[in-house]
Amino acid sequence: MTAQPQNTGRRSSAELIHAEESRLAHNYHPLPVVVAKAEGAWVEDVEGRRYLDMLAGYSALNFGHRHPALIEAAHRQLDQLTLTSRAFHNDRLAGFAEQLADLTGLDMTLPMNTGAEAVESGIKLARKWAYEVKGVAPDQANIVVAAGNFHGRTTTIVSFSDDPVARDGFGPFTPGFRTVPYDDLAALEAAVDENTAAVLIEPIQGEAGVLIPTDGYLAGIRELTRRANVLFIADEIQSGLGRTGTTLAVAHEAVLPDLLLLGKALGGGIVPVSAVVGRREVMSVLGPGQHGSTFGGNPLAAAVGSAVVGLLETGEFQQRAKDLGVVLADRLSALVGHGVVGYRARGLWAGVDIDPAFGTGREISERLMAEGVLVKDTHGSTIRFAPPLSISEEDLVSGLGALETVLAG
Ligand SMILES: Cc1ncc(COP(=O)(O)O)c(C=O)c1O
Repeated sequence: MTAQPQNTGRRSSAELIHAEESRLAHNYHPLPVVVAKAEGAWVEDVEGRRYLDMLAGYSALNFGHRHPALIEAAHRQLDQLTLTSRAFHNDRLAGFAEQLADLTGLDMTLPMNTGAEAVESGIKLARKWAYEVKGVAPDQANIVVAAGNFHGRTTTIVSFSDDPVARDGFGPFTPGFRTVPYDDLAALEAAVDENTAAVLIEPIQGEAGVLIPTDGYLAGIRELTRRANVLFIADEIQSGLGRTGTTLAVAHEAVLPDLLLLGKALGGGIVPVSAVVGRREVMSVLGPGQHGSTFGGNPLAAAVGSAVVGLLETGEFQQRAKDLGVVLADRLSALVGHGVVGYRARGLWAGVDIDPAFGTGREISERLMAEGVLVKDTHGSTIRFAPPLSISEEDLVSGLGALETVLAG
């Protein structure tokens, strides 16, 4: 076997992409850009070309790349302690959980790593609560989910996806889920029965194209679940932590779920950090040995997560999302009829439907990349804009100007 070059920094973007193709599983179709460094809303590729990042790691980079307060917290913790496992306590976890309780208004935290793990953990909590507290007969619990959902990639989670690309070839699937149309309270109510443990919903469906439900939907779910003794689980892994102009997207309807799923931005774009944050009565169903993760709640994750919550406590990022969201929506509305057939926006987050006559979502994303702006398509003709909440108004306007240029060209 011939030795492979070790110093990837010396290889060109084209060479690195070629090498990835032969050595990495093909479960992604990235834009052909190889990023080597980043700061704030800007990234730089191997050849030194700069791009405005208007995807922000699907909202994992809400505070921008390498936010100084987050990097400092990570450095400080790296010099102290990085991992204990939960076999022992560590001195960072209690404070992180207290901050999350203050931030969300809920009681207790179950720390995990990836978003999918938070979803899995929420499902397990809901099932156990159904058997032990609600009194559902063994193995009879069901969870109601929405069509078009995206909650991650594990075998159980794809079991209740309706996206054939996510599901096909991965059966047999986990039973116990019922799918109803999104934003349809009557269908939800009809699906709930005495064995329903939970309703699991994205307050805004990100992967589906930033679908925002009608006002009253989330409040309606809260009312219905309370009445039926069913848990309301809100997956805010993408919608939460400032993105929509409030700390949580459920705050737009002033509701609090029983279980809140957080991830992505909770790790500040530095380490994977996710959590279920919930009411004490539900969280208390778990006993020692019944659930866990070697890295969940590790001190490095807790230190970065604490610094993330610290940034959110100021309200600055929520306000920026709100203010810049007005600029985003204004600019997008001017493009309707000029290559854009419609858009949905809340805070600094938008799904933009491109007129197919102007190109596919992928083609428009590639043309935007050529203009120095990075976004990603979803579902064929939709492009998602989710720039860092730290982006300047000037950069936001110039990024949207690039979309106008691409559609005009
Ligand atoms: C709403 C939602 N839930 C869960 C996930 C899964 O998170 P992860 O990719 O960290 O497993 C995602 C990821 O995009 C998401 O958007």
